[in-house]
Amino acid sequence: MTASTDQYTWLITGCSRGIGLGLTKKLLEDPANFVIATCRNPEKATALEALKDGANGTLHIVKLDVDDLDGIRQSVNEVAQILGGRGLDYLVNNAAVNQKIDTAFSMDVEGWGAVFKTNVVAPALLGQVYLPLIEKSNKKTIVNVSSSLGAFGYGYGELWASYAITKTGLNMLRAERPDLMVVCLCPGWVKTDLGTDDAPLDLEESVSAIAKVLTSLKPEDNGRLVNYKHEMVPW
Ligand SMILES: NC(=O)c1ccc[n+]([C@@H]2O[C@H](COP(=O)([O-])OP(=O)(O)OC[C@H]3O[C@@H](n4cnc5c(N)ncnc54)[C@H](OP(=O)(O)O)[C@@H]3O)[C@@H](O)[C@H]2O)c1
Repeated sequence: MTASTDQYTWLITGCSRGIGLGLTKKLLEDPANFVIATCRNPEKATALEALKDGANGTLHIVKLDVDDLDGIRQSVNEVAQILGGRGLDYLVNNAAVNQKIDTAFSMDVEGWGAVFKTNVVAPALLGQVYLPLIEKSNKKTIVNVSSSLGAFGYGYGELWASYAITKTGLNMLRAERPDLMVVCLCPGWVKTDLGTDDAPLDLEESVSAIAKVLTSLKPEDNGRLVNYKHEMVPW
């Protein structure tokens, strides 16, 4: 099934669990959403597969390991076929890894390149290779899921240095393109494997708020870092 003209089309990375899975579930409550949910192991993504039952929107699952740069490039043809001539309204760069609690003086500098690849290089390449499909859409929106840890204004980043630096880098993936909408979004501190059970926000609360923010972006949000409450995060 391809997207109908009255549906918004989404591609989300890292949908096997956490915020990617939760956001996919939330969007599928609405028949207006056509979601291409990507993950690196669809055969093991049982929770994602299960969303097909009872979905009001449309779900396609596509295999995508964002560390595989050639795989990212090759995925465009498959996605274009699924879209069936439609553009891509929302590219949500959600997949990310957090090395561990570390500081500038203790971080594993050898392993850090891999974190940078997943958290910054992959979203950058996805934005580049999906640009023609995004340009063809109505919403023309790229969402880089970031973190306030990457913003100086919050001052927490030094405790998760290797992760925070990648999010600071991600925040700079902006474009002087008023015809596009490129936003960095902080989902809040959310109970997921990455956020841990100590997080104050439930997944459902975060993804409901995220869905609302993303579907109500205004031209002035272009280039901003906003949080799940649609507030600007101080850089
Ligand atoms: N949770 C929070 O409190 C919080 C706060 C601020 C920002 N964020 C951001 O929110 C986003 C989602 O985080 P989360 O809390 O949902 O994390 P999570 O529970 O750890 O889930 C991470 C997701 O990313 C996927 N992923 C990791 N590496 C991948 C790769 N190479 N290719 C494809 N998928 C990959 C994982 O897939 P596998 O199952 O295959 O590993 C998983 O689906 C991230 O960008 C994170 O930085 C989260």
